[in-house]
Amino acid sequence: MVPKPIIITCKQPPTTYIPQFNTSSVRTEEKPQTLQPKTLRTTPTKTLLALLITTTQKLKKTNKTLQTSSIPTLILNTLDDIINTFVDPPIKPSVDPRHVLSQNFAPVLDELPPTQCKVIKGTLPPSLNGVYIRNGPNPQFLPRGPYHLFDGDGMLHAVKITNGKATLCSRYVQTYKYKIENEAGYQILPNVFSGFNSLIGLAARGSVAVARVLTGQYNPINGIGLINTSLALFGNRLFALGESDLPYEIKLTPNGDIQTIGRYDFDGKLFMNMTAHPKIDSDTGECFAYRYGLIRPFLTYFRFDSNGVKHNDVPVFSMKRPSFLHDFAITKKYAVFADIQLEINPLDMIFGGSPVRSDPSKVPRIGILPRYADNESKMKWFDVPGLNIMHLINAWDEEDGKTVTVVAPNILSVEHMMERIELIHEMIEKVRINVETGIVTRQPLSARNLDLAVINNEFLGKKHRFIYAAIGNPMPKFSGVVKIDVLKGEEIGCRLYGEGCYGGEPFFVAKEDGEEEDDGYLVSYVHDEKKGESMFLVMDAKSPEFEIVAEVKLPRRVPYGFHGLFVKESDITKLSVL
Ligand SMILES: [Fe+2]
Repeated sequence: MVPKPIIITCKQPPTTYIPQFNTSSVRTEEKPQTLQPKTLRTTPTKTLLALLITTTQKLKKTNKTLQTSSIPTLILNTLDDIINTFVDPPIKPSVDPRHVLSQNFAPVLDELPPTQCKVIKGTLPPSLNGVYIRNGPNPQFLPRGPYHLFDGDGMLHAVKITNGKATLCSRYVQTYKYKIENEAGYQILPNVFSGFNSLIGLAARGSVAVARVLTGQYNPINGIGLINTSLALFGNRLFALGESDLPYEIKLTPNGDIQTIGRYDFDGKLFMNMTAHPKIDSDTGECFAYRYGLIRPFLTYFRFDSNGVKHNDVPVFSMKRPSFLHDFAITKKYAVFADIQLEINPLDMIFGGSPVRSDPSKVPRIGILPRYADNESKMKWFDVPGLNIMHLINAWDEEDGKTVTVVAPNILSVEHMMERIELIHEMIEKVRINVETGIVTRQPLSARNLDLAVINNEFLGKKHRFIYAAIGNPMPKFSGVVKIDVLKGEEIGCRLYGEGCYGGEPFFVAKEDGEEEDDGYLVSYVHDEKKGESMFLVMDAKSPEFEIVAEVKLPRRVPYGFHGLFVKESDITKLSVL
């Protein structure tokens, strides 16, 4: 049953347009405290007392919470409410949950067990026997205060296809953070991207977080990650990923369900976080990865063999400052990193900013490290002014033996990345780097606003021809998909999903008997905001219009999210955990 929407009004409307926030998909017990009008500030003593009483009554009403609450917990929860109500400055649209969680960005209320779907157009081809699974943020509690798009608990949405039939299943990644907070019945850790928006807020929220650790509510050694970003299959294991934690191993059951096995440290060899964009060489089965962070070395490269055995870390000390290093690329010879104008600066949080900010004085660089390097002695950095690439689509070595080519969307307005993402324009470029002379040449491949681009993964690290990218209209919503011919340097295919319909990252699934690079299907979730319905689309990747091969009506809404993966049935049967 879908609860009746409740429209929240604010006595001090924000200066920019904020869509109505539909709270129907949010835990009801969390509603009141979050959206208190800011007029509470005018009568602090009275409202402070009222808040304490309200919080106490609220806790008493909830049996589950009452059972797990102690006096310290009660006090800390009240302090959280006081910070949200009295300490936070007026909330910015970029972290206002009524804005960030509007429309199909709103979380779904709960998990969905495997549920039969209806194929309403075409047929699901046998090549698609397997599971398409996509990660994305789905906060289990309505935020008590500021909330950024990146702050939600990871939820996996999986369509399992078996002989033309499909089921949908939506499950949270059972992270340590998710489980502890789920048992408690409220959020314990503050939001990383939005929770520290003033000096007092930083001190206050930081103190409450420390107190929660000291009182035993949370043990950060077990991880703080949301695991809301992506998935990867390597070493015969399937992982859900988020770049602030270790991978979490995932199991896909025969009936289409998703289970979290747990946090995976590769026999104790991975003891810190790892990128959510590892690269798997389909020829060798090796996985290449890295982590970045706030302390030296700001970048550490590492790899896994085809059995998932991790090799030694390669610290990269030539990365001089902590950068927002979300993605990288590999070729057969190199690992390619982008050191862009987005930096991590916790000090900015004190002054009401995001922990990630842009530095216009910084010259972006491309770093090229031999793929099997044991240290960074042969790493080379190349200045590339104006090149801010957050996602790298692919890279390869040219036949001349000295040129590395990278294809990636360049963020032309990187200063808007964290707070005005709707103003972002990303243009896919082909960037050629002569590693001997340092000469860099660049060629735009499309003027469109494109991101979340994919290729036929058989060509990862190798010269390829086709890119499939989502059309930002505006970011972070995607109104269609295009196909770009890298060889011709032009767009050769396009599908717009229609008015009010938005998708996300497509995924290319190769046909089993395919001969050419683009012999396959493009799959994606698409949501119709007019009807409030979600679909799973299977498109012919070869046709210029991305002809619909099958359209599956999903039994429930799938919120917009980040990155996905198609796991063939034959690969599922090889997983270590069955
Ligand atoms: Fe990403």
